[in-house]
Order: sequence, then structure tokens, then C-alpha cells
Amino acid sequence: MKKIILALDIYDLAKAQKLIDETADFVDIYKVGPILFLQDGKEIIKTIKERGKEVFLDLKFHDIPATVSRSVESARDLGVYSLTVHSSGGEEMLKAAVSVQNRPKIWAVTVLTSQIASPNEVIKRAKLSQSCGTDGVIASPLEIELIKKGCGKNFEAITPGIRPAKTDDDQKRTATPQAAIKDGADFIVIGRPIIEAESPRKAAEIIYRDISLSYINDKYGHI
Ligand code: C5P
Repeated sequence: MKKIILALDIYDLAKAQKLIDETADFVDIYKVGPILFLQDGKEIIKTIKERGKEVFLDLKFHDIPATVSRSVESARDLGVYSLTVHSSGGEEMLKAAVSVQNRPKIWAVTVLTSQIASPNEVIKRAKLSQSCGTDGVIASPLEIELIKKGCGKNFEAITPGIRPAKTDDDQKRTATPQAAIKDGADFIVIGRPIIEAESPRKAAEIIYRDISLSYINDKYGHI
């Protein structure tokens, strides 16, 4: 599975379809969040799956345990690959989410990457999520290494806050794609740097090639 998850943070189904077609060579998983889901939820999920790609449903569930487990059931019935819950929902809520039969992967949000957070707080939430049975967590690229050390290699770490170059937007805890992969991120979630690029295909391709090269260098030494 390719490591870029493209965040389809747009309002328009036709534009989303175009973005998928343009980036399909470099992306296997597309993230659908509330912006697009509330416009064209079922249609966009169908579109992604028809193209042989996977859906990461990023609705960040945070509710009473019964509502969250039923939401996970509904997401499962849509055939999504993974979804998010908020770790701050607590132990009972997290356990209710993972208890669903044949469920998608569950990734718990530690602390939003737009907020300042101490690494201790992030690790505490990652460990709680792991102990409740989630498959991994969403964290900033700056905490990936710590999470892998604290929770083990098999506990997935997915990171937004990826910026190929320094930008001045709402993301506070950022890193380059190469740095995030080097630190052990299983997937990197990228939105604006690709979807707002003049050529989304080119932007995706450049990031894809950069991280593939850094992965090879890391594994086999510099080539
Ligand atoms: O445009 P940008 O690359 O900042 O997009 C990052 C995506 O990751 C957004 O869709 C945002 O909702 C999501 N995200 C995040 N921080 C989290 C969890 C998800 O930025 N902790």
C-alpha cells in the first residue's frame, strides 16, 4: 500500500473525482472528511471504491459509547478501510468502537495537529488507545518516533501536518514527508499541498518519489 493518504477536503464531487483520477498512480487511500461527506457521502465512497482505491473515513467520532459503536457499524456497511475516533472520548468509548464485528481499521486521534501539545500527552493517549484495541493513532509527525518506541512497531502511526516546505497556515506541528516516513510513519495524510497545487498530479508525484527514495536510503543505505 502506498504511503500517501490524500485528504479530499473539498466541497465538490466532480472535483474530487478529477483529483482521484489525477493522483491515482501515487495514492491508494483517499481520506473523506466531513466537508465532502456531508455533500456527497455515499457517492464519493462509491467513486473511490469503483476506482479500486480505499476510503479513510475521517469523521473523528466522539460521542457516547453506544452511538460510537453504531456509527462504526454504519461505516463498516459502507465498506470503508479505516476511520477515526477521538482518544479523548475515553476508555469506554474506544472499547465500544473496537468491539464491532468485521469493523474497519480504527485510528484514534491523539491531539489535533493544529493544537500545541506536549509529547507526554500524546503518548499517554496513544497508550490508552492501544490498550483499548485500536489499530493505531493519528499524531503529529513530531511524535511518530516516540509512539513507535512506546507502543511498538506494529501499532500504526498516521500523520497529518505534512508540509513539503515551510508554510504559514493552521498546522502547528509539521514536518516534511521524508522526515515523517524516516521516523516510521505508516501513512502520511496530505491535503492542501496537493489539492491546492497547480498540478495535483505533479505535487503527488514529487512527494511520492521523495518518500520512496528516503525509504530506500533508510533501508539499504544511501544510493
Ligand atoms: O491540508 P492538510 O495537509 O493540512 O490536511 C490535513 C488533513 O488531516 C485535514 O483533512 C485534517 O482534517 C486532518 N487531520 C489533522 N490533524 C489531526 C487529524 C486529522 O490535520 N490530528
